[in-house]
Amino acid sequence: MKDADLQWTLERAADAVRALCARECPVLLVLGSGLGGLAEEMESPVRIPYGDVPGFAVSTVPGHSGGFLIGDLCGVPVIVMQGRVHFYEGYPMWQITLPVRVAHLLGAQTMIVSNAAGGINRDFRVGDVMLMTDHINLLGMAGHNPLIGPNLDTLGPRFPSMTAAYDPALRQAALRVAAAAGVDLKQGVYAGLAGPSFETPAELRFLRAIGADAVGMSTVNEVLVARHAGMRVLGFSGITNVARLSQDEGEPPSHQEVLEAGPKIAPRMLAIVKGVLGKWT
Ligand code: HPA
Repeated sequence: MKDADLQWTLERAADAVRALCARECPVLLVLGSGLGGLAEEMESPVRIPYGDVPGFAVSTVPGHSGGFLIGDLCGVPVIVMQGRVHFYEGYPMWQITLPVRVAHLLGAQTMIVSNAAGGINRDFRVGDVMLMTDHINLLGMAGHNPLIGPNLDTLGPRFPSMTAAYDPALRQAALRVAAAAGVDLKQGVYAGLAGPSFETPAELRFLRAIGADAVGMSTVNEVLVARHAGMRVLGFSGITNVARLSQDEGEPPSHQEVLEAGPKIAPRMLAIVKGVLGKWT
């Protein structure tokens, strides 16, 4: 997409959201597969289906009901992305990441992002919550980075740093909250792949060898766009299944398994997110 077209698309989408709810929200919260329940904790949110925002794509995946929710969580005005679209659905990168850029235009300076992920680290179990310390952008390495194309200097720099993509101070805050709440919060590196096929055992052994602790099909593109815009990022992976590193180990992964693990993960993830928000001001 040409830069003038992206600017126009962004402004039109932001205007449409403002017309429905004119609140300035400092925090964007992105909810992944099966974690939509976090939104029920919000006080009287305004719901804006993605289909009502020009330019936004609508998810085709069960478990990803799509829309912005704008309201208060723990006294902090937040925009919640309830569901997201993925590269494997066939949408272009600019469209996958558009809601993050719009939320930034609407005042979001921090993004708290969550996803469902497969556990690669041997210490991880189904139901664990992992604080993202870093990512490996395998999609980007294969030439699919949302920042490819003309750079809009109004959005961010041509060559943004990803050295501290996951904000160290916010990570410390999350660790403190988890410790105080008695929640076992794992930490690790998330490998972002395109999907939609799950990984082969050989691919999982490769991911472990390069230092990945968890693997998923989302998040990285949103993080790149958020960091490009100078937003601070805090990320959590809910471990919905664990890697089978050989063909003889256990059952193959399924989307059903991913959805079933969501309710086990959501209460602990919610406790941490609420704890971090509670310390916001
Ligand atoms: N692989 C990729 N993405 C995922 C997985 C997985 O095992 N589990 C949940 N999302």
